Amino acid sequence: MERLQKVIANLGYCSRRHAEELISKGEVKVNGKVVTELGTKVKKGDTIEVENTILDNNKDYEYYILNKPREVVTTTSDEHGRKTVIDLIDTTTRIYPVGRLDYDTTGILLLTNDGELANKLMHPKNNIDKTYIAKVEGIVTGYAIKKLREGVVIDGYKTRPARVKLKKSDKNKNTSLVEITIHEGKNHQVKKMFESVGYQVSKLKRTNYANLDLTNLRVGEYRKLSNKEIAILYSLVK
Ligand code: URA
Repeated sequence: MERLQKVIANLGYCSRRHAEELISKGEVKVNGKVVTELGTKVKKGDTIEVENTILDNNKDYEYYILNKPREVVTTTSDEHGRKTVIDLIDTTTRIYPVGRLDYDTTGILLLTNDGELANKLMHPKNNIDKTYIAKVEGIVTGYAIKKLREGVVIDGYKTRPARVKLKKSDKNKNTSLVEITIHEGKNHQVKKMFESVGYQVSKLKRTNYANLDLTNLRVGEYRKLSNKEIAILYSLVK
């Protein structure tokens, strides 16, 4: 038996707090009856209806990591008919991506139908590490690296301190490779951070997400997480 608001969040409908509001407003039914008591407990198999939508309360959770290729969108469907990350994973379960990678970004992406874990991993308070390798036009200076480390302003927001390392610069090709670990997930964050210090990112790959990496996963490949890996993800969030 679990608390109703937790089950609604776990099923990916919304956050736990929003579920509490919906319960209080009388928008939730359990086995056909409106429930407004926040402590109500439900079990697997009870029919839960939220705002007239029946949730599938019999499902088991699935967790995958994918090495996302370029030219694939990180959504569950695309109005322009482009390939989505969901198309790459062979499952009948309605999983969804945790956070976003741009159309032209490659690398590690977590997908699951565990809404509670997904919401927590995306919540800024949990400071989940995300590491990227950026190929950048130009030779990145020590001063730019220092600014990126300390935080730069993008769209009026100052980014949190980041780990930033210049891996290589190629004077002939006039490009640099920079490894950067950030803790937030703002839209186009890495590209905008580099833009703010005067550099254009030409290629971006995410190599690590919450301590998970791409070992043994070629571009386009995916695998299920082990129970141990799932437990570690839970241990990283509050
Ligand atoms: N930052 C970006 O700019 N793009 C991504 O896809 C991820 C992080």
